[in-house]
Amino acid sequence: MEQTFIMIKPDGVQRNLVGEIIGRFEKKGFTLKGLKLISVDSAFAKKHYADLSAQPFFNKLVDYIVSGPVVAMVWEGRNVVATGRKMIGTTNPSDSAPGTIRGDYTIDMGRNVIHGSDAVESAKKEIALWFPQGITEWKSSAHHWIFE
Ligand code: RTP
Ligand code: MG
Repeated sequence: MEQTFIMIKPDGVQRNLVGEIIGRFEKKGFTLKGLKLISVDSAFAKKHYADLSAQPFFNKLVDYIVSGPVVAMVWEGRNVVATGRKMIGTTNPSDSAPGTIRGDYTIDMGRNVIHGSDAVESAKKEIALWFPQGITEWKSSAHHWIFE
């Protein structure tokens, strides 16, 4: 089944939004397959956001990601990549719908508390980068109550 990489950014950790964010993915029905609290250095952050290296905000973005610990996660479920992005909301919180994570908890684009993979292919790359040791294989006993 499809997997995505979700990261609670340093502001989300500092603002005590970890439980709230994990709760949303849990209650939706997705399955937690990997989880760690980790501080990364700028070389690592640059790798994660390599696609954005030509953007004028790149250095600011890297400084943001290394400014404190982040919560790195792998979530699994049907269409979890696209649905995860919908749950997160648009990049700029000014446009994020109420009910989305960014819409409910954030104001500035450079403090938008959470990252989610934007495609199945980038999810695979990001999971390999953040969880080189692999993820935890298990099947939730609620699986058949969530998926037909
Ligand atoms: P993310 O990768 O973190 O899930 O965010 P996203 O797909 O919604 O947006 P993306 O274009 O990938 O940008 C990554 C993060 O860079 C910061 N950003 N700042 N103009 C700016 O100052 C600007 N644009 C983007 C945001 O923190 C964004 O989430
Ligand atoms: Mg992105």
